[in-house]
Amino acid sequence: MSIGILTSGGDCPGLNAVIRAAVFTGIKLHDMEFVGFRNGWKGVVDGDIMPLARPQVMGISKQGGTILGTSRTNPFEGGGAERVAEVMEQNGIEALIAIGGEGTLAAAKRLTDAGIKIVGVPKTIDNDLSATDYTFGFDTAVQIATDAMDRLRTTGDSHGRCMIAEVMGRHVGWIALHSGMAAGAHAILIPEQKTSIEQICEWAESARDRGRAPLIAVAEGFKLDTMDDAHSERGLDAFGRPRLGGIGDQLAPEIEARTGIETRSTTLGHIQRGGTPTAYDRVLATRYGMAAIDSIRAGHWGRMVALRGTQIVHVPFEDALGRLKVVPQSRYDEAAVLFG
Ligand code: F6P
Repeated sequence: MSIGILTSGGDCPGLNAVIRAAVFTGIKLHDMEFVGFRNGWKGVVDGDIMPLARPQVMGISKQGGTILGTSRTNPFEGGGAERVAEVMEQNGIEALIAIGGEGTLAAAKRLTDAGIKIVGVPKTIDNDLSATDYTFGFDTAVQIATDAMDRLRTTGDSHGRCMIAEVMGRHVGWIALHSGMAAGAHAILIPEQKTSIEQICEWAESARDRGRAPLIAVAEGFKLDTMDDAHSERGLDAFGRPRLGGIGDQLAPEIEARTGIETRSTTLGHIQRGGTPTAYDRVLATRYGMAAIDSIRAGHWGRMVALRGTQIVHVPFEDALGRLKVVPQSRYDEAAVLFG
């Protein structure tokens, strides 16, 4: 049986570990053959394939990024199911393993509905995919963000400054919550929880009054309670000034003006997505890759592998689509006990 593998959407530490595990397991146990599609769905509709055998995947678990390349191409803008079926047939490929986030899995569902044999592997550093407890890449991003905040703390302490760390998370605040808790941030600001500037300043002042340099973890998608959902699209920042940077850069001058505490903001950006995956992410990604082969053997088309507790399960694509896994109020309240 010949299988095509693609990685699609934003990259994520652990993608290569999935590819390696799927290829090794398929070859070793089931005499399968593999090819890789370059650059996500783009490679599928363009018929851009590369060989994927032991030599290509040896030793790649520890490598960040994806050896296949990735893109945010939607296959339905490039020929759709008919074109995908044609390319698969031309190359003797019977089934696909699609590794990606919500967009990738939504496209995979439509293709499966049209008769293409696909199994999915969930991926996002944001950890916001429903139907799975964790996605690989998240642990690595949290580790990188925590390390950055530990470093911001020593420079903040030396100068008596308030330090803001802006982390990824357009729609949900899992990275900010976990890294902020790990680093002992005095405030954690996430998209799920609109907060007032007065409250943020109160937390910063309370830390300062105890002789601490305030540390604030903010997710890129955070909004003040005065901001509506379309706020950032109007070209103005949270305080009505022309928008220059992200939310961290917007908050810094305002906190400084209101509290008198000198404030600096650092945006971690794509550093959180690059480099070596943690051991946890490599193990999770490896288990996902192996489970994807089980899915193919069982003919579980239209399903993705997922983590429930410590078990790997197989769930329909639709369970992961339509609604994001947000930070529950109880988790935020728990962290907030130690703010200020
Ligand atoms: O969804 C993953 C993610 O890393 C988000 O946290 C972030 O907002 C976005 O991708 C960045 O996307 P891009 O790499 O296209 O700039």
